[in-house]
This record gives sequence, C-alpha cells and structure tokens, in this order.
Amino acid sequence: MISLTRRSLLASASAALVIPALPRVARAATMPVLFAGPATAQIAPDGNDLTDVWAYGSSEGSAGTIPGPEIRVRAGERVQRRLSNGLPQPTAVHWHGIRIDNAMDGAAGLTQDPVQPGDTFDYDFIAPDPGTYWYHSHDRSWEQVARGLAGPLIVEEAEPWTGQEGAATREMTVMLTDWRLEASGAIEEASFGDIRDWAHGGRLGNVVTVNGRSDAELEVNAGERLRLRLINAATARIMPLRIEGHDATLIALDGHPVAPRATEQIVLAPAQRADIVIDCTGKPGSTAALMVDAGRNQWVQVAALAYSDTAPVPAIEGPVRPLPMTMDHALDLKNAQREEIVMEGGAMGSMRGARLNGVESDFRQLVAAKRAWAFNGIAGDMENPAFRAPRGRTVHVTLRNDTSWPHGIHLHGHHFEILTRNGQPDAYRDRRDTVFVAPEEVVEIAFNADNPGKWLLHCHMLGHQVAGMRTWFEVG
Ligand code: C2O
Ligand code: CU
Repeated sequence: MISLTRRSLLASASAALVIPALPRVARAATMPVLFAGPATAQIAPDGNDLTDVWAYGSSEGSAGTIPGPEIRVRAGERVQRRLSNGLPQPTAVHWHGIRIDNAMDGAAGLTQDPVQPGDTFDYDFIAPDPGTYWYHSHDRSWEQVARGLAGPLIVEEAEPWTGQEGAATREMTVMLTDWRLEASGAIEEASFGDIRDWAHGGRLGNVVTVNGRSDAELEVNAGERLRLRLINAATARIMPLRIEGHDATLIALDGHPVAPRATEQIVLAPAQRADIVIDCTGKPGSTAALMVDAGRNQWVQVAALAYSDTAPVPAIEGPVRPLPMTMDHALDLKNAQREEIVMEGGAMGSMRGARLNGVESDFRQLVAAKRAWAFNGIAGDMENPAFRAPRGRTVHVTLRNDTSWPHGIHLHGHHFEILTRNGQPDAYRDRRDTVFVAPEEVVEIAFNADNPGKWLLHCHMLGHQVAGMRTWFEVG
C-alpha cells in the first residue's frame, strides 16, 4: 500500500519543479518522429514499377509509407509528433478536423513558419473529439499531398463503442486517394502548378488507391458487422462510393456522429470522411467490389472486400448502435454574427477580375499570377481576415457558389452545422468540418467560434486553394 506522507508529497513537488530545468534533449528523446521524405511505393498495379513518392515515416530518415502511419489515440489524449523535414522544400503538418490549439494547426504562413528542409517542428496537442480524422501537408499542399504526404488520424471513443450491443465487431480504416501517373508509373510532374487544371476541377488523378494500393483487398469475415472509416485524401477528386451487394449505415461524417441512417451511396469531397457500418452478408471466399464513380456515372472498382474462408460468425441482429454524442452543439443562432463568402471564378465563370495584393486585377492579370478564383472579390490575399468574431459567438456563414464548379469548403479549428441548402432547411443538420457546395448552390452553416486564434477557411480542392480560394478568420 502506498501512503502519501507529507515528506513524499514534498519530494514529488520538488521533483516537478526540476522538470522544466532538464536539458531539452531529455524531452526530445521522448517525442515520436514523423519524418517527411522521399520514398517509393507500389502505386501502379503489381508488375509495374515502383513510384517515387513523398511520404511520412515514423522514424528519422526512414522511408515512409503510403498512406502515412496511422496515428491512433483515445478522445482526450495527447498527440505528440516531431515533424522532421527530409524533403527538398519547406513543409508543415495540418491535423485536419481536430479542434486544436491554434499554434499546433500546421497552417504554414498563418499559424507557424514553414519547416525548412533539415529542420523540425514539435506538434503537441490534445485530440478532444472521437472520430475519423487525417493529417496532411499544409505547405504547397497541392503538390505535397499529391505526392503522398497524408495519413489517417483516428480518435477512438473514450469508452469503446466497438463490441457493444448493436455496434460493429471490428473496424477498418479506408483511405482513398488518386494519383496522376505517367505510363512508366512515375508521378506526372509537368502538370504541377498548371493553371488550367486549377481553373477547372483541379489536378485529377488517373489511378485511385485504397490504403496505398490500386488493387487493395480488404479482408473481412462472413457475419461480422464492420465499421469502415472512409477518408478522401485526394487533392481534387470527388468520390461517390458504394459497395457492391452491401447496404451501408452511415454513423458519422467528418468525425461527427449522426443518427444512423441507411445510405446506398456516400459522396466524399476531398478531405471529407464518413464512417459507415456494413453487415458482411457475403459467403466465405467471395469478394465484393468497392466502387467509385469516376465521373458521369462510370463506376469502377477501386478495391475489393475479400471474404476469408473462415466459417461465418453469427450475424449481429437489429439496428446499428449510434455512436455516443459527445460534442456540445450549443449554437445561438438568434444572436449570430452574419458573414458571407461568395465564391467566384474558374473556367466557364463570369468573374471579370478580383483584388490581388490589394490591386484590382483583370482576369488576364490574375491568370498570369496563377489565380483563377476569389472569395468576396479577393483572389487569395492573406493580409486581412474575411471576418473576426469574439470568442464564444455563434457565426452564421452563407457560402454562395457563384461558379460552375463544385467546391469543398473547409474551416480550420471548428466544426459547423449545415443549416440550409438553397434556402431549404437541411434534413439532417449534419455537423462537419468540410462541406460540399455544388455549382450555383448556396449553403448556410453556423459554428460556435470558441477556439481562439487565426484559422484558415479554404476550398479543399488544393489547386483551387492555391489559385485563390482561401482566406482566414480570427476568433478572440
Ligand atoms: Cu485539410 Cu487547410 O486543410
Ligand atoms: Cu474549389
């Protein structure tokens, strides 16, 4: 038995006092590394050459993996990673969707300086909310993410949901992305920075991978109830998804629990996530295709559920157990601060010009500066925030898409509720961190500005972002 005497209390108190005085290296030794550097991966189907990629690895100088190592904690736990930059260009890591301490947000140029080649940056933060998140480069992200710098960040429920009555018996992370490869299997580099892609739907790939493989087999067992954590890590591709022969129940979007609802098809804009539950009703030894709509209703198989040969386990009966609703949803819509973000530009649009570095510029001048889009008439200048909000205020933002293209609008540091689409109340009022806005659509969202700091607001089609669809807001 441990007895806490006054003396041992004093001893531990003085020990605590000593800690800050320890040399820095003592702390350094304990922080796990996230190394960003060149690596190779089998992106093209087996039998093709390996592809040179940029990837995250979990030790200094190690060849990284595609996707990057899965980081997994429980809600309320701390994530610590020392980013070590082994790339030929500066970088930073953003922890997408985490309601994070502003200094740890990884938005290079806004919340931190870019990490130069050979340098490190220590990320240390609490992951407050359970859910499916991801991390990715946030410097030249249109190139760095396309070269492979992304990985899953899974925050488990504080009390395990898996295994409870009606819940899934197992879970699996399914990270999707696409790659633009040459016939040789190498990443097609000539189009990096091509304004024509940026002014259209972005730099779409020609090979889709699931967990880094173009021929992924996701092993499942007959009878089990499976939670799939779907993540769209592509820089531009919107992914409508379905699984042949299996009904899915949606249980979370962008990490947020939703009342379970049946869904035939999930549409994920870049950066969006969905957690779905499927009952594995196939026969041992059988397969079922995971399909993506490659555009215009051309469904292609991107992975297979591969049933093991083991005898079926007894099926789980009854409805899918909802995830615990843990987050405070308090919004004060009556007293909300009203803001509007008008999206303009792009091919087949009507934008004639926009402000660029404080100067009214016509479309030709914008294109020369590699800008094709604007928010509220400003083509991606970062001098001033789109708005400021006092801490704790509800902010109501109208997202007005005056372009011919869909966009996926993301807010850093906060989660928002979708109130209306084209004036109609949204049926589900889902909470998300990234919202799909169709061409000419108007979407109203609201969030509680409870996280102080400077936060990006941008399109997560990363070519759109760099070409003008970005701004920021300040809380507090
Ligand atoms: Cu995935 Cu600015 O973020
Ligand atoms: Cu966009």
